[in-house]
Amino acid sequence: MPSSFPGFRVLVPFPLPAGGLARLTKTFDALKLWEAADRAAALRAAAPDIRGVASTGAQKIDAGFLDLFPKLEIVANLGVGYDHIDVAAARARGVMVTNTPGVLVDEVADATMGLLLCAVRQLPQADSFVRRGDWMRGPFPLSASLKGRVLGVLGLGDIGLAIARRAEAFGLKIAYHNRSRRDDVPYAYAASPVELAQACDILVVAAPGGPQTRHIVGARVLEALGPQGILVNIARGSLVDTEALIAALREGKIQTAALDVFETEPDVPAELRAMSQVVLAPHIGSASVATREAMADLVVENLTSWASGAGAVTPVA
Ligand code: 8YV
Repeated sequence: MPSSFPGFRVLVPFPLPAGGLARLTKTFDALKLWEAADRAAALRAAAPDIRGVASTGAQKIDAGFLDLFPKLEIVANLGVGYDHIDVAAARARGVMVTNTPGVLVDEVADATMGLLLCAVRQLPQADSFVRRGDWMRGPFPLSASLKGRVLGVLGLGDIGLAIARRAEAFGLKIAYHNRSRRDDVPYAYAASPVELAQACDILVVAAPGGPQTRHIVGARVLEALGPQGILVNIARGSLVDTEALIAALREGKIQTAALDVFETEPDVPAELRAMSQVVLAPHIGSASVATREAMADLVVENLTSWASGAGAVTPVA
């Protein structure tokens, strides 16, 4: 088995983008778990030798998972978000966790603007309208507009900022809420998610997932957003209380939503799927070939740098 780092076995529970996976398997003795006929048996046999894991959001990495690998040193995650990884448990076991910040920022921000335009101008619905032949029977209904509106960014990190910059170019005013105010941006600061929702028409959720942000967008925030309000979530499903969102949409407390992430993904509630004004996407914020390969490169770089003794390149905060 070709390996630049003999003895450094890497577990790959779920597929990585093709180019990254090829580089990984050229560099390391890698176990591609999804290819094993008996996954449990393959994992049991390899576990004592595993020193690295190349993970994706599909693999929950909790204390029980970490305990399977007595020699584990590093979990290199494909993705900037790592709410599926128990970082405290990893730290307690001396296991390094890395993610892939930076390389996906523009892609996710571009996708956000696309979803936002789709929701405001009802572009997917217009596409279906033409395909169904409905145009022959009359014009497509007039839509809402971006004109004169305020975009609220909940979570002004790298991705939130890239969204804000794009939105500025669309002529939108920007407000934001973060745990703390930033002194390097010209945008209006709102002291809470409710205040942000009151101050904006379009609320974009761009904060990290995890217990601290669970359901920060609930009934009160949605009510504050108002009947012309639009919710865009490209962060994690866990930030939005799905029941409250469905109720707000059903009762007209907000106008519509564009959602790329869901609490129970890939299982999207039937109520949401049945709402014709809502725009839904299958967690594709970073999902272009180029960006996913750049993310996979960073996963391999982290593992390589670590295995060569130079430390991780992008450790999580
Ligand atoms: C990916 C993401 O879908 O970076 C993230 O946090 O949510 C996405 O880019 C995911 O990480 C793939 O595993």
